[in-house]
Amino acid sequence: MRIDIISVLPDLLKSPLQESIMKRAQDKNKVEIYVHNLREFAKGKHKQVDDTQYGGGAGMVMMIEPIDLCISQLKQERRYDEIIYMTPDGDTLNQKTCNSLSLKKNLMILCGHYKGVDQRVRDLHITKEISIGDYVLSGGELGACVLVDAIVRLLPGVLNDETSALYDSFQDNLLAPPVYTRPEEYKNLKVPEVLLSGNFAKIEDWRHEMSLQHTQKRRPDLLE
Ligand code: ADE
Repeated sequence: MRIDIISVLPDLLKSPLQESIMKRAQDKNKVEIYVHNLREFAKGKHKQVDDTQYGGGAGMVMMIEPIDLCISQLKQERRYDEIIYMTPDGDTLNQKTCNSLSLKKNLMILCGHYKGVDQRVRDLHITKEISIGDYVLSGGELGACVLVDAIVRLLPGVLNDETSALYDSFQDNLLAPPVYTRPEEYKNLKVPEVLLSGNFAKIEDWRHEMSLQHTQKRRPDLLE
């Protein structure tokens, strides 16, 4: 998979995408991630990327030209399965979308800023609009990191234990069961007996039951 991210704050994206599992995925050539600095596509002495909005109103709008130049250049080089715009008014991200995007070959992600991008960018290039939740961030970069992380960890061979992503919360509309590690007892708090039993069928049943109870309590909407 290849992911191209367009941003006015490329440094904000670098560290989260170069640590831990994201780093390993790139080192193992499971994904190539490129960050493009939008300012490099801006014209004029001031390399302007935003301007006041037509019709008046507070807040700057990201200009169409630098974004169009950047996206058009990338589009000339390869075919993109999706060109995603990170925005609070997009479709709320969920596991199903992550699963589906993890099967694509080339993704492009545009990070918005200020009041957002000129609507014509969306009309011209964007194929998918994603929000990471009902709150407003100061830019799309952190949302893009969340999206990329959630996709890349699903690529085959990225996680050590191939099956572990399958047992994540949300994969089957259930939240994950509780987990425990050594010691068996800490300050009178004991690990549930069944997990020490060695009976894997019983352990699976218990985990499923715990998932159900946990989901019922925290997110009954997932069971509807
Ligand atoms: N940009 C600003 N807020 C956002 C959000 N909630 N999700 C994605 N991108 C955003």
